[in-house]
Amino acid sequence: MKRRFEWELICMAIQTSINGKPVALSAEPDTPLLWVIREELGLTGTKFGCGIAACGACTVHVNGEPTRSCSVPVSEVAGKSITTIEGLKSADGTLHAVQKAWISAQVPQCGYCQSGQIMAAIALIEKTGSPSDAQIDEAMTNICRCGTYPRIRKAIHAATGQAAKAAKPAEGAA
Ligand code: FES
Ligand code: FES
Repeated sequence: MKRRFEWELICMAIQTSINGKPVALSAEPDTPLLWVIREELGLTGTKFGCGIAACGACTVHVNGEPTRSCSVPVSEVAGKSITTIEGLKSADGTLHAVQKAWISAQVPQCGYCQSGQIMAAIALIEKTGSPSDAQIDEAMTNICRCGTYPRIRKAIHAATGQAAKAAKPAEGAA
């Protein structure tokens, strides 16, 4: 009985907001946010890649900041607002402008890294307005094993209304 009481204390509900809806999460405080998003909430658009904040596949927004959810304990997001890839489209199903640009530029290959790439790109655009190639290269540290970096750059420019600039050659570019 005492053990159960202790367990319930450990698993105290963590109040937060996911994609605009208030939720009470019941995970242990040190559970990675990514696990809660995927396993407790069933939002599997956010991917697991490395688990050590290196690849960016798990990127979500926490209070608007791009955040590698594999390396953030869920207790740290109490009272904060989280947006995942599933939360980008509007209520009538219209895709976010960056998602549309991604489709137009045919960015994805295998697609595994792309939700994280899009979340990182949106955060960059919201911060800079119309990022230069240099700003894109500096901010977009998410890894793409398929080498879609030139098309990611092109889609970001398209989403911000810039003429697509000639993409610089990138290693492994497809
Ligand atoms: S899975 Fe989180 S950064 Fe790689
Ligand atoms: S599209 Fe395959 S890893 Fe990026």
